[in-house]
Amino acid sequence: MDTPEGFVAIVLAAGQGTRMKSARPKVLHEIAGRPLVHWAVEAALEAGVDRCVVVIGHGADAVEASLEERFGGRVTTAVQAEQRGTGHAVQQAMAALDDHAGPLLILYGDCPLVPSEQLRALMTATTREGAALGLVTAALDDPTGYGRILRDARGRVVAIREQKDCSRDERAIHEVNPGLYAVDAGFLREAIAALGDDNAQGEFYLTDVVAAAAKQGRVVDVPGDMRDLRGVNDRADLAECARVRRDRIVAALAAGGVGFRDPSTVWIDAECVVEADAFVDAGVQLRGRCVVRAGAHIDAGAVLTDTRVEANATVLPYTVTTDATLGAHATVGPFSHLRPGTVLGPGSKVGNFSETKKTRVGAGSKVNHLSYVGDGDIGEGVNIGAGTIFCNYDGFEKHTTVLEDGVFIGSDSQLVAPVRVGRGAYVASGTTVTRDVPPDALAIARTRQQNKEGFAARLRERLGARKSHAKAPSGRDPGEGAPR
Ligand code: UD1
Ligand code: CA
Repeated sequence: MDTPEGFVAIVLAAGQGTRMKSARPKVLHEIAGRPLVHWAVEAALEAGVDRCVVVIGHGADAVEASLEERFGGRVTTAVQAEQRGTGHAVQQAMAALDDHAGPLLILYGDCPLVPSEQLRALMTATTREGAALGLVTAALDDPTGYGRILRDARGRVVAIREQKDCSRDERAIHEVNPGLYAVDAGFLREAIAALGDDNAQGEFYLTDVVAAAAKQGRVVDVPGDMRDLRGVNDRADLAECARVRRDRIVAALAAGGVGFRDPSTVWIDAECVVEADAFVDAGVQLRGRCVVRAGAHIDAGAVLTDTRVEANATVLPYTVTTDATLGAHATVGPFSHLRPGTVLGPGSKVGNFSETKKTRVGAGSKVNHLSYVGDGDIGEGVNIGAGTIFCNYDGFEKHTTVLEDGVFIGSDSQLVAPVRVGRGAYVASGTTVTRDVPPDALAIARTRQQNKEGFAARLRERLGARKSHAKAPSGRDPGEGAPR
């Protein structure tokens, strides 16, 4: 379909969203990792509008910052200081658009599923018919909360009636207003100047401009599918729209060759990239901007945020990662926690119940069991034994532990940073390393072992006897005899 030319979009996002019962402005609540208002703006830009003006008001600073961060100069804002209705909101936008004579696309910032094709169809029909106003209408089994479409005997749209202003008969109408309009700027300027607020909510309704265009016989309506067009007014709507969006994201990835065991349990944010032949098991969540390369395997229940998983890497069940990178053929989990700044080299391994933070792990190195590895710089072919702790924090500052290539750290060791273990060195199990270890040296710091022959047998005897005396009705006081 052609991209209609010369359109500017207005997105209304100034309302508080009272029905959300939230301190956060409604339009900043997220679906698939994107605020609601971003979805609306994105759809408009994708549909080919030249630029976009977002009307902000409630939580204006936060909404503006969020738009600026994502869209930069492609989006400008107009402030509606007091929220006096959708018509009043459009008046504020038009004040910022007095140089614009072309057509406008108007949509609401709480409508996160709208496809850009729907917007394009609306813009094209409106331009083609030379209408003053085009709108989308859709049928809905339960039309509660939506404005109803009123038609005359010949089936022409004559007005939109808000639910609260509906008569009983009007309330029974199932054709509703999803809130998408294409409007001629000249017509709109006159129509919004003439709006009144004599209605059930005492607001200036944008929807009243439909009746004005109908009076001139210059309305065109385009059919829409309500599954794509529902608005978010409360938490239930948000959850439902999030589910629909999730289904679409997962379906698109599956069509692109990503394997899913149980797509209905997986949540993947919109900004994530997952390549063909990656496999995603049940209950996985990919949040933020994850990249999962071909052949990678994300096992059940893993939650990855802003994480890169290179080709053929494996994430075993119930692993949690944030701002981390797994090199090709690396393995993590089950139950690993990779915190920000973790970079695992190719073929390296972080095993169960290990935690890493701001650490590079060289190719082929292993942190297999129950370790804490923070602020580490670990070379290639290093083996870190079970229960190793990098003591990176002295209460004031963080310090780095450097393990050069080929180092072997025995189990239950502590490395008190800053410290360096030279290439090929050994650290004996149970050692607390406080000084640098030269290459190829053995560091051992623990008391020498003594074996006391027969001691355990004698101890058992003595303790057994004490216990039976204590149970006897008139026993000796079992106070003496602690082993020496
Ligand atoms: C609106 C429509 C209704 C339609 C429904 C579709 C009007 C009068 N009604 O009702 O016909 O069926 O959307 O979802 O337009 N906003 C502002 N400033 C304001 C008021 C609202 O910017 O003063 C913004 C809100 O942030 C929101 C959007 O406009 O993003 C819609 O407002 P909302 O209060 O949700 O309108 P509805 O009651 O849903
Ligand atoms: Ca709404």
